[in-house]
Amino acid sequence: MSDPLTGRQRQVAGLVAAGLTNREVAEQLGISRDGVKYHVSEILSRLGVSSRDSVREALWGPADGEAQPNETGRTAAQPGEVDFAKHLLDAMRGSLLQRVLRIATETGVIPALRALPPARASRIAAAADIDVRYARSILSALAAHQVVDYRAATQQFRLSPPHRSLLTPERPDSFLELIDSTTPRDPDDDLLIAQIRHDQGIRLEAGMANEWANLIHILPRPAHGLAAAFSAAPQLAQSLEQGISVGEAGSGRGRLLIELARTYPHSRFSGYDLNPTAVELATADADHAGVANCEFIVADITQHPVQHNLMLAFGMLHDTPNPAKIVAAIARIIAPQGLFIATEIAASSRLERNLGLPLIEVMYDLSLMHCVPHSVASGGEGLGALWGQEATRALLEAAGLSVQIVRSESDAFHNYFIATPQAGIGPADPSGAVRRTGSGGQKGAS
Ligand SMILES: C[S@@+](CC[C@H](N)C(=O)[O-])C[C@H]1O[C@@H](n2cnc3c(N)ncnc32)[C@H](O)[C@@H]1O
Repeated sequence: MSDPLTGRQRQVAGLVAAGLTNREVAEQLGISRDGVKYHVSEILSRLGVSSRDSVREALWGPADGEAQPNETGRTAAQPGEVDFAKHLLDAMRGSLLQRVLRIATETGVIPALRALPPARASRIAAAADIDVRYARSILSALAAHQVVDYRAATQQFRLSPPHRSLLTPERPDSFLELIDSTTPRDPDDDLLIAQIRHDQGIRLEAGMANEWANLIHILPRPAHGLAAAFSAAPQLAQSLEQGISVGEAGSGRGRLLIELARTYPHSRFSGYDLNPTAVELATADADHAGVANCEFIVADITQHPVQHNLMLAFGMLHDTPNPAKIVAAIARIIAPQGLFIATEIAASSRLERNLGLPLIEVMYDLSLMHCVPHSVASGGEGLGALWGQEATRALLEAAGLSVQIVRSESDAFHNYFIATPQAGIGPADPSGAVRRTGSGGQKGAS
């Protein structure tokens, strides 16, 4: 069955189905409110429905599980698949919620919520005697799971009386007791709880090589999503085909660059990462894949003056101790005519705008369990994976870059930030030599 919606319409429809208002959709996609209005009226007419509420059903299918196109435009393969997927996702949410409740209880956040009137994260952090970066992250996860209420106007969190009573250990019907007696303790959570209590983080080294590398397999393949960038930078695909120099900050296991190196044999790809284990593994993977135009180097991108036409930073800015410093360095690397593409989880910097987004609990949980402790370990701000598009945009603009935010149909989880010092990508360097230029194109970065 051919898809009645265009790519852009499907993006808008996905967000409308998730319950976003026109204003929120416009902000998420970086388009005007009138543009959204137009798309919504087209979507209603093309789907043959009369209200926004019907868009979700039209997209996700009726309860009888008939095959329907999903939000990426693919067709659900078999009847029953959608229902079963929902069932599995509920199970995943439930098991994550048990872990978050244990972390929140044993770090003193739930006891503080029980004891306090509605309060801000800083007050709850003080009452629990933990770092506010952790308190904010735990409270956001609890809000995403609808355990606590969040009042955006006052930025206060509150445990409602019925929730409070079921989360009071002295009561015979306490769920905390039940969870404790029925759920095996996860050693990773025990480590996190101990580190939070001691105001410490968890270093990325071990995690990067093992668990994070596994974790990212659940996210869409980044090279697919990169196609979204082609719509915002039309000459990019052609430049990559002809041959340009591409660098990636925080290349990790190197999945993205290896895939790109295979697709664009005339371009050269260099991945930089602080983590020697990740670089070693990425190098081995590149050798195994037989790509000769791709190298991985142990380096701090802020200390590495090599010039590239295109710089990438996928899912790394929020984890670093000083994202402004990284962006300033990248702005220098691509100056004066290059292009910078960063991806971050598609979310707002404001918690209240994220609540209700699909799988948002999972995102906040993973942020608490991985991103925040890793950032804290390196003295970072603990921004978390959901630091949001407003904050990311502001950071890029402060470095003198102009920014466009695009979304990919094949990657519902990320925003793609397309940033340029001026307009467009420079011509390919036929000699293959690295061009070095001055350090212009940045202002206000610290
Ligand atoms: C969350 S991982 C993302 C890895 C990869 N981009 C991905 O999407 O799978 C962030 C990576 O950035 C690296 N990193 C952080 N700060 C860095 C810096 N200043 N220079 C180079 N790499 C850095 C970390 O070592 C880590 O491997």
